[in-house]
Amino acid sequence: MQKNKYEKIHQNILIWYKEYGRVTLPWRNINSPYEVYLSEIMLQQTQVKTVLERFYFQFLEKFPTLKDVANAPVEDVLKAWEGLGYYTRARNLHKTAIETKGTLPHSAEALEELSGIGKSTANAVACFAFDEALPILDANVKRILYRFFAVKVCNDKKLWELAYELYDKNNAYIYNQSMMDIGSAICTHKNPSCEVCPFESLCQGKEKPLLYPEKKIKKKKPIRKRTLVIYYKKDKYALRQNKERLLSGLWGFKQEEDFEVSKHTIKLGAFKQHYTHFTLEASVVLFEDKEQKSYFSINEIHDLALSGADRKALALLEKYCQ
Ligand code: ADE
Repeated sequence: MQKNKYEKIHQNILIWYKEYGRVTLPWRNINSPYEVYLSEIMLQQTQVKTVLERFYFQFLEKFPTLKDVANAPVEDVLKAWEGLGYYTRARNLHKTAIETKGTLPHSAEALEELSGIGKSTANAVACFAFDEALPILDANVKRILYRFFAVKVCNDKKLWELAYELYDKNNAYIYNQSMMDIGSAICTHKNPSCEVCPFESLCQGKEKPLLYPEKKIKKKKPIRKRTLVIYYKKDKYALRQNKERLLSGLWGFKQEEDFEVSKHTIKLGAFKQHYTHFTLEASVVLFEDKEQKSYFSINEIHDLALSGADRKALALLEKYCQ
């Protein structure tokens, strides 16, 4: 039988994982598909530290099972997601909970049909929860592949081919978890530690790892200037539920493009909020107006799911009211 040309590397990885792998992460070595799935969704766009310290356990306490997610109103799921950002993930989690009636399918193929689950997440959940021997392709894995194969520019189709070529079919679980650990601790963006990398012996990019992948010239994000107007009536404040895709379902104060400041306007402060495609520069003002649709007391506002920007505005309001 022909020997796999990556056998040595696969062995190195098994040894490396035993010693350095983050085996105590709470979503590793568990047999709850829901908890694996939840961790993968949270980790799609958020760092391990943030997920661990502020969101994963708190979410599971509120929603111990996927059935609990399915039975809850989407607003409650969004409230538990508050602060984690990229709220489409929470809406898709809720959709998936309902679509599956709280029981996830076992194969990557079926998982990929569900809302918010792309190929890499489907493979990760199938591998980590159901032992399917498949590779994953998140940002860490991509960086390792670029360097290992000394590729400067590549599309996802080709990267998937490389992922399938390199992965260890016999130990896919450990291989995939190791790839994420190596990507975050060793094969880092700016300071890779090639001398301690289990891939080192065969890595084609090890002499000049920073050449791979080729840096894209980042376009500067456009700035969106808005006045965030907190309309009030006595000691209640007007909020409306967002309909736009980005923040759909979350509650927020009104944002005005050309708000005219007058002597009746109370200035509360200003802040910046970074989104994927733009930066919001907001000045926050308080303005009496009895004609808005729904008003809430400060305590009631705390029970609503707010976007990051609106939480910053609320903090300014609370400071002013003290
Ligand atoms: N990012 C995505 N999935 C992960 C996992 N299982 N462990 C650490 N980081 C991750």
